[in-house]
Amino acid sequence: MTRHRRVAFAAAGLALAAGVAAVGVAAAGEPYRETYPRAQIDPARGVEGDVGFSDTIGYWRTPQALARHAGWVGDAQQQWKLNWKFMDLDRIDLHPGHFAVDAGEARFNALAARDRRFATCLGEGTADLAGLAAAYPKHDAALGRVVTVEDRIEHCAASVLGERIAQGSVPNNELSVWFKSRSAGVPIRVDIGDARLMQAYRRGEELFHAKTGQLNFACASCHVPGSIMGHKLRGETPTTPFGDAAHYPTYRTPFGMLESIQQRFARCHGQMRTQALAPGDPAYVDLEVFMTVLSNGYPVSVPSAR
Ligand code: HEC
Repeated sequence: MTRHRRVAFAAAGLALAAGVAAVGVAAAGEPYRETYPRAQIDPARGVEGDVGFSDTIGYWRTPQALARHAGWVGDAQQQWKLNWKFMDLDRIDLHPGHFAVDAGEARFNALAARDRRFATCLGEGTADLAGLAAAYPKHDAALGRVVTVEDRIEHCAASVLGERIAQGSVPNNELSVWFKSRSAGVPIRVDIGDARLMQAYRRGEELFHAKTGQLNFACASCHVPGSIMGHKLRGETPTTPFGDAAHYPTYRTPFGMLESIQQRFARCHGQMRTQALAPGDPAYVDLEVFMTVLSNGYPVSVPSAR
């Protein structure tokens, strides 16, 4: 083995041990890391950035467009172009996502009955949560960090009730899908005018293109045009990243439970043979910001099933 190859192997080992957390900064002393060619994405265009990207948005942007292409559902060659949007809200027969919303509402009522401040903590001063979830992730000055809906729920349960409702747990996902259902149909509006959100977006964009893990794959290796996107991979076909954040948490029919978007990141990391991170990890928050900006302008679409 040449010295060059030995160094490369050592670097790969380090990268694997570090998982994805160390990506994004290419400072001296850090493992050598390749990136996937950078996709041209303009955050200001929001979900419309898919025009000229995968160009599938014309098939799934509106219920009318979905109805026009309903014949593609179940067609292995065409279905991926619908970005699975035909499985949102009540577009398919009553699915378990609706029961998850009911379960979340029951949990919310029980927790708010114990202490009313649980509701006003979630609503940052108001108990009426209608429309609020469409602005997440957002920067919270008091907490000094970018918060997701799931982080807000964990924080409010701990600070008001002294109870741990960890991100990624069933109760947290049920409360989250209920909270977001209060914004169903409201266009997503992550505030890209806030520099702290834009910094998180840029870090997330970096992570999306960084190759990691034993297969040396980036998220982009499967989710941008010209990659595996649109091609079958072990029975699944990766789709455009635009519009995805709108339907999370989603009811995963194969697993029989809700899945948050960060749990989906972890599952993609598993497919990439990259060490998955825990929900709430700052790297996953950055990826969620990046992906939610790619849904800006698209309506919150829970409950959904996948
Ligand atoms: C090995 C290929 C592959 C890689 C690499 C990959 N994914 Fe995926 N991903 C998939 C497949 C297949 C699906 C399921 C089909 C779909 O909805 O795109 C999926 C689905 C998703 C979804 C859900 C889409 C939806 O409509 O519900 C998100 C979000 C996602 N990936 C994000 C990521 C992120 C972030 C990364 C990098 C950390 C990543 N993926 C890396 C293959 C991959």
